[in-house]
Amino acid sequence: MSRIVVSPSILSADFANLGRDVKYVAECGADWIHIDVMDGHFVPNITIGAPVVKAIRTSTDKVFDVHLMIENPRKYIKDFADAGADIITFHYEAVDNSEIVDLAQYIKSFGVKAGISIKPKTSPEEILEYIKYFDLVLVMTVEPGFGGQKFMEDCAEKLKVLKTYAQDGLYLQVDGGINADTARVCTSYGANSLVAGNYIFKSENISEAIKSLR
Ligand code: DX5
Ligand code: ZN
Repeated sequence: MSRIVVSPSILSADFANLGRDVKYVAECGADWIHIDVMDGHFVPNITIGAPVVKAIRTSTDKVFDVHLMIENPRKYIKDFADAGADIITFHYEAVDNSEIVDLAQYIKSFGVKAGISIKPKTSPEEILEYIKYFDLVLVMTVEPGFGGQKFMEDCAEKLKVLKTYAQDGLYLQVDGGINADTARVCTSYGANSLVAGNYIFKSENISEAIKSLR
């Protein structure tokens, strides 16, 4: 099996020392850095914007995996690409179906990888026809908006369907309630990219926590 990509979510980092935490988690073996962008509309929480992404870009060369939980993602894609995003994932539920392919191409026009994400109540069948336009599909295993929630296994089961349609090289990512046990469940269903916030940042040994996910 190919190597599992671990993407610590900095939503659980110390925001007063964000650059330091990003650098540290990178040194501890993170493959990517997962950055949760929330607008208070698509989800009931507000987090960070492109200027913060730009500021922490100086802390590491690791892949910046930007998860947009915002309405009207098109409006902000250029800002995040310019700020140093390497992957930009938007939500299927935030856009019209007619926009999806064009948005994937728009993200890629900046030399950035494109991802599409589904919330817990969205069925995987809804996105099957679009997978081929993307580099990454993100299956939320909690309702997006907050870290530290409980993993929903029925959401992870969507991976089985998605895996059947996944082209070679597609990242199948999960996000929400991931720890060493739930990671096992997700990888057995086909996940090859794991986002974890609390499990990594609240652990006493970040290197070990990252290792335990692979
Ligand atoms: C939730 C975010 C997640 C969050 C995961 O909406 O998309 O990336 O930080 O946090 P944990 O791993 O603590 O569930
Ligand atoms: Zn996320």
